Amino acid sequence: MGCALSGSGITPGKTVPESKRHSLAESQMASKAGLEHGSDRPGAVPFPLADTQKERIQESWRILHDNIARVGIIVFIRLFETHPECKDVFFLFRDIDDLQQLKMNKELRAHGLRVMSFIEKSVARLDQEDKLEQLAFELGRSHYRYNAPPKYYEYVGIQFISTVQPILKERWTPEVEEAWQSLFKYLMAAMKQGYYEEEEKSGSIQSLALRKPGTGSILNSI
Ligand code: HEM
Repeated sequence: MGCALSGSGITPGKTVPESKRHSLAESQMASKAGLEHGSDRPGAVPFPLADTQKERIQESWRILHDNIARVGIIVFIRLFETHPECKDVFFLFRDIDDLQQLKMNKELRAHGLRVMSFIEKSVARLDQEDKLEQLAFELGRSHYRYNAPPKYYEYVGIQFISTVQPILKERWTPEVEEAWQSLFKYLMAAMKQGYYEEEEKSGSIQSLALRKPGTGSILNSI
């Protein structure tokens, strides 16, 4: 599976970096939470989970694990129902409008499974904060290359929570919900940092490449 720009590392047509287009309110919130991109790594994103919260996540994951294929697909179908623009990122199935048909699509299933396997890895690394953060950070970097911007990530967490709730039935409690919400918030913050770092890197490479001879190109000084 891939998106229009998957793997190219280049995002044509992006002139204003996404990071520069944030609302003031968003940047202030990020700043208050210490989540601005550009912070020193590792440990740039404060780890929010207490030991009891980790246990709640691990316990519920043991049940969810048997349902990963189903959860992965439902999360993304609901994401496309509520935010159809997200589908445009996936060039292999963006032209399929019938969501029932899309449920059977093997590329969508594959992406659903990849997302779930990332969550599984995250659950397995709850006691290794640096590794967990690095994992999410790298995923954010690759999502810049997939042209999947951060504003969409939190929708995935919301849909994940509403999908797993009926599977866990009475095991789903406000405390379990809070633990999962904190985990997603943390992972999304690290993913966003990875995305912005990749964007900045790619922006500076592009601006170097775009400089004309005689207008300050570093090549002129060599
Ligand atoms: C919690 C949020 C998300 C997680 C955990 C996640 C996870 C993943 C993973 C594990 C991969 C496999 C490739 C890799 O490791 O780099 C992947 C690929 C990809 N993701 Fe996501 N993703 C998320 C959100 C999104 C969103 C919101 C979009 C689009 C709007 C998206 C679009 C893509 C695309 C186009 C690919 C490449 C094609 C593919 O592998 O299927 N992702 N994602």
